[in-house]
Amino acid sequence: MTEIPKVLTVDSNSHDGSISRPAAVVAADAKAMLEERKQRLDLKKASENWWNTIKRNPSLLNEWLIDQYRGEKGAYDRMTEILNSDIPMTPKQKTVLGIISQEELLHSQWIQELLQSRMSSEESVKLSAVPVEERYWSQTLPTFIDKTIEQLFAIGAHAEEMRLHRIRAIVNDSSDIHPDIKQVFERILTDELFHAKAFKGMTTEKDYQEAIDKHVEGLNALNPIPYGGGIHVT
Ligand SMILES: [Fe+2]
Ligand SMILES: [Fe+2]
Repeated sequence: MTEIPKVLTVDSNSHDGSISRPAAVVAADAKAMLEERKQRLDLKKASENWWNTIKRNPSLLNEWLIDQYRGEKGAYDRMTEILNSDIPMTPKQKTVLGIISQEELLHSQWIQELLQSRMSSEESVKLSAVPVEERYWSQTLPTFIDKTIEQLFAIGAHAEEMRLHRIRAIVNDSSDIHPDIKQVFERILTDELFHAKAFKGMTTEKDYQEAIDKHVEGLNALNPIPYGGGIHVT
C-alpha cells in the first residue's frame, strides 16, 4: 500500500476533498526549483564561456582533450574494478554497469583518435603529464571497498552529470569551428545522458544527496574558484 507522505494534508477548504499541500511547503518547493534552475543556467553560461575561451586556444583545448581521454579511460578502469570486486549487486545492476563501462572504453578510443589526428605524439606525451582528473576522484572516491553499490552509483551519477554542461556547450556551438571535436562529443553526449540517468535510477535519493558534499569538494579540487560561485570546471 502506498503511504501518503507527511507533507500532504487534506485541505479542509477544498470542496471536492482533494489533497493539497501546505502553502509553506509549496513555497519552499518553488524556491528550491527556482534556485536549481538558476544554478543550471549559471552552469550553462559558465560552460559556454569556458568553451568560447578554449576553442580558440589550441594549448588549452589540447590539454582538455587529453584530460577527457584520461577521464574516459579512468572511468572504464574504475568500473571494471568494481565489476570484478566482491561488492554485492543484482544481475541487472551488473549488466547496466558492464554496458556503461564498455561505452566509456569506446569514448576513450574515439577521443584517442581525435588526439592522434590533432597533435604529434611528443606533444601528447607532454600534455599527458598534467594530472587533473585524479584530483576530483581522490576527493569523491578515495576507495570503493567501503561503499555499497548504491553509494557508488550515486557518486557515478554526480560525475556523469557534471560533464553534461560542457559537452552540451560544444555540441550546441552553432559556429563551424572544430567539427571533428563536435562530431565525437555529439556521440558521447547521447551515451553520457544515458549513464547519468541509469546511475541515478540505480541509486537511492538518500545516497544521491549524501554524495553531494564530496562531489562539491571534488569540484573545488579541480577549480581554484569554489563551486557555488557560478564557475564549474570539469
Ligand atoms: Fe564517457
Ligand atoms: Fe559516462
